[in-house]
Amino acid sequence: MTDAARKIMQRIDVLAHISDDSHRLTRLFASPSMQRANALVSDWMREAGMKTRVDAVGNLLGFYPGSKPDAKVLLLGSHLDTVRNAGKFDGALGVILAIACVDHLNQRQTRLPFAIEVVGFADEEGVRYQTAYLGSRTLAGTFIGKDLKRKDAAGISMRDAIRAFGGSPTRLRYAKLQPEQLIGYLEAHIEQGPVLEKENLSVGVVTAIAGQTRARVDFIGRAGHAGTTPMDLRRDALCGAAEFVLAVESFARIQPGLVATAGEIEALPGASNVIPAEARVSLDVRHAEDSIRQAAFEVLKEKAAQIAQRRNLRFLVATGHEAPAVACSEKLAAQLGDAVKRHEKRLLFLPSGAGHDAAIMAGITPSAMLFIRCKDGLSHDPRESAELRDVRVALDVVNDFIQMMARNA
Ligand code: HGY
Ligand code: MN
Ligand code: MN
Repeated sequence: MTDAARKIMQRIDVLAHISDDSHRLTRLFASPSMQRANALVSDWMREAGMKTRVDAVGNLLGFYPGSKPDAKVLLLGSHLDTVRNAGKFDGALGVILAIACVDHLNQRQTRLPFAIEVVGFADEEGVRYQTAYLGSRTLAGTFIGKDLKRKDAAGISMRDAIRAFGGSPTRLRYAKLQPEQLIGYLEAHIEQGPVLEKENLSVGVVTAIAGQTRARVDFIGRAGHAGTTPMDLRRDALCGAAEFVLAVESFARIQPGLVATAGEIEALPGASNVIPAEARVSLDVRHAEDSIRQAAFEVLKEKAAQIAQRRNLRFLVATGHEAPAVACSEKLAAQLGDAVKRHEKRLLFLPSGAGHDAAIMAGITPSAMLFIRCKDGLSHDPRESAELRDVRVALDVVNDFIQMMARNA
């Protein structure tokens, strides 16, 4: 299995060169680089004996038939989109590892009592339109139609972006998978956290995926000349936003299990000699308990209101995305745990602070995740890395999991 794991690592490197940015890895929803990634990965799927298609939103799907034409389907996969300046394992590893598992079956001409469909989701990160999970929501039938009107930073609507990509915004509802046809979904993914490294384990089984709220907070003041406007006469929107960012950090630091991040900030009009009239801040709030996350979001909105009032600013809050915490399927996680026990010195169950397509797929079929150790728990950064030995363990585990599913079918 080492050769197969080595091939996964080589393919990770090849795929990482497909980017919309010549200096760093950035592959956003419905972008030219996503077209190229779908083309390359579908070649790999076909080499592994799969029939491939791209659905109405841009998901890439590879189908490996079961022993009977009406066999139910086990879904494997992850996402092919990335954040900006991304690492090369986030998403890609889960898709390429799933293809390797099908290749393992195809090379032996093995047909299972169920079919396997490998999915390369079109948009898990939600970077382009701030609405994560566009791909998995389409397959789960939970795509939010009004999101088609959203515009990206260049003013391109999601509807037009899907059309330009070759998708069909009017047919998204028909891309939904039939739950009764599915037996489950398994996603292998780097942990993006430090636990497996600290426990010195290659893999772990995910118990639940934290809920998340993504919003944008706009502070509106008044532009002015940086040289002639006295400090006490200013309504500086960026200072209000800066105070809010620090308030978010200090609040999250004292709430157990809460994480809150202001990942983007923009000052307008954006000139060094103009007092910022407007400042836009992104807000990402997460917690394993939805009620705590929602209460924290309310507190942070109140903090923004107080800062705006004190500084004679206006402020607007728009929630871009909300996903509840989701428990993985206990049955599937236990089965995955049995497979882990055959290849790992200890079976560890752990929660996921990161969001994953499995959180959406759990809405239509039992879903499980296998985490793979990544160096320093680093992710969403080019230094993101995973070891060959851990990828090989993960590959062995998922192959065994598939065989166990076949025996229990
Ligand atoms: O942001 C997340 O949690 C995931 O990496 N998309
Ligand atoms: Mn990610
Ligand atoms: Mn991911």
